[in-house]
Amino acid sequence: MTETLQTPLLGVNIDHVATLRQARGTEYPSVLEAARVAEDYGADLITVHLREDRRHIQDRDVSGLLEQSRTRLNLEMGMTDEMLDFALSHRPEDVCLVPERRMELTTEGGLDVADRQAEVTRFCRALNAAGIRVSLFVDPEPEQIEASAACGAPVIEIHTGAYANAGDPSRARAELDRISEAAALARANGLVVNAGHGLHYENISEVVALELIREFNIGHAIIARAIFSGLGGAVAEMKRCLAGPGGAA
Ligand code: PXP
Repeated sequence: MTETLQTPLLGVNIDHVATLRQARGTEYPSVLEAARVAEDYGADLITVHLREDRRHIQDRDVSGLLEQSRTRLNLEMGMTDEMLDFALSHRPEDVCLVPERRMELTTEGGLDVADRQAEVTRFCRALNAAGIRVSLFVDPEPEQIEASAACGAPVIEIHTGAYANAGDPSRARAELDRISEAAALARANGLVVNAGHGLHYENISEVVALELIREFNIGHAIIARAIFSGLGGAVAEMKRCLAGPGGAA
């Protein structure tokens, strides 16, 4: 019998703040400011994915985030030696190993730990030895969970994309059952269970209700929602700039 979890933690993924910045090659919006705001409003950790092609988050963002962090940094990265060296020299609190394909829009599918067990074990050993907590981003499949435990990772993050993209309610229910079974199996194997991908304001409560997930990593939905929580104020501020000092907006 596993214990019931407290309110899960929220990892705010701020990759898409960097996506917007990189689209114009500007200094703004600032990833560091985004992390500060997220932490001010209750983020329990900040998550970023340093991709091999550096399409959004840059090396300097990771360094800056580590310097200013008031919570902790979860670095998502592909399994390359370049990224392993980067993690070992920068030492974020957490590293989440993800599969990475150059042309994908976002991380598609989990890491095939069962197929890459020797390589994953090598990464887990190196990161564990450096005191970095490793998590493996896996699909909710029993063989991936068992392989993750065998590799010596203390944490898994269940890929919730199939649930989020299920479309019809019966398919979503079936995907939720897979998540629930995988999370229970992982916990029975002594793993801490996180989850993420494609979660938004409407689909998260059912995953929270499983009471099996310790931490959620959520990005796209939060950054998308922030546009409309902030667009009104941003337009009003520009109107004030047009009116000039002392002018009526
Ligand atoms: N967790 C992992 C491992 C991811 O790769 C991503 C996407 O970068 C997320 C969580 C967040 O997904 P989303 O942006 O859909 O919330």
